[in-house]
Amino acid sequence: MVITVCIGSSCHIKGSKQVVDQLRDLLSRNSLDDRVTLTGAFCMGDCMNGVCVKVDEALYSLKPENVEAFFETEVQSKFNVKDIKGETVKSNG
Ligand code: FES
Repeated sequence: MVITVCIGSSCHIKGSKQVVDQLRDLLSRNSLDDRVTLTGAFCMGDCMNGVCVKVDEALYSLKPENVEAFFETEVQSKFNVKDIKGETVKSNG
């Protein structure tokens, strides 16, 4: 998985550096930093809705306040699988 955070000027003003720092921290705390590539890109053409973040090719609009919720639903959940009892466990792949 590749997460690309817009670091263009409009998104920068809206807190892209904070979003990057939060994502880096969340990836590290969840031991996903070796499985997810965090990178930056200049203007993604949707400045009005920044901070713009792409997960692979899907575009999201984030604020520092909703990074954690975004991380749980769009990142962390992708690495969890249901085991036979329906409990969520971390996959090895
Ligand atoms: S500066 Fe981020 S979309 Fe334009």
